[in-house]
Amino acid sequence: MSLEVDVLKPAIGAKVRLDRSAIGDSAVSQELLMLLERHTVLVFPRIGLTDPQQLALTDALGERVNIAARVPGRGGADAVYQVTLNKGAKIEPEYVLGTFFWHMDGLTVDVPPPKATVLSARRLAPKGGQTEFASTKAAYAALPPEEKRELEGVRVYHTVTASVREFCPPEGLDDARRAMGREHPLVWTRRDGTKSLIIGSTADRVIGMSQAEGRALLSRLLEWTAQPAFTYRHCWEEGDCVIWDNTSALHRVIPYAADSGRMMHRTALAGVESAA
Ligand code: OGA
Ligand code: MN
Repeated sequence: MSLEVDVLKPAIGAKVRLDRSAIGDSAVSQELLMLLERHTVLVFPRIGLTDPQQLALTDALGERVNIAARVPGRGGADAVYQVTLNKGAKIEPEYVLGTFFWHMDGLTVDVPPPKATVLSARRLAPKGGQTEFASTKAAYAALPPEEKRELEGVRVYHTVTASVREFCPPEGLDDARRAMGREHPLVWTRRDGTKSLIIGSTADRVIGMSQAEGRALLSRLLEWTAQPAFTYRHCWEEGDCVIWDNTSALHRVIPYAADSGRMMHRTALAGVESAA
């Protein structure tokens, strides 16, 4: 089996021609996982998945995880999460507004961060709403050896309060979210030895460093990762689906208006803890 692939940028992104009828074929799934590892962000232009098809694609690639359901008190969250600011939808504005800032999914819940996120564009915003990705794998690989050595063993505490700090004080969150947090290694290590940085808006403090020193390190690494060579901006068309390697890339959406009608459907693949 060989899928038609167009590389978007050397460090990040590939466009894949996938027929919906091939979803579930195990050779296709293996190839998609290999492409995801190689390119970090896979774009399926106008594939037009229904929710059952998106769930089938997710399940074909591995074990599914519902990170929204990991928020205390939200165990009954739908299998497909609707990312939208639409009034009347079961929205969590503080969560969705948080997507405007560089982040990785699921860093503050009580399970390993998702291996990958699957996002489908159901309705576009007339203005804004493009999604940007930045490879923390390419960014880590390009660091000078002495900096890599300095980052070894460093651990970071990630919280929901940190992820909303630009627009919402801690008191604006409910008790459950205010209490959410989890420690992760700054350098994520896969079983095959490849490494990436785990950073972004949820990063609250570096363990064992002063607030100033820790936050300076985190923002320097964020700026380094967000340089053009490591980033890809996806300009959505209706029906596009994008899958990204969640522990190898940051992502953020260009702000869109609450009344834009933008609607994205999200599922995720379960991950495993870092090997070191
Ligand atoms: C998310 C997310 C980006 C987008 O749902 O976790 O970051 O473009 N979404 O809506
Ligand atoms: Mn996200």
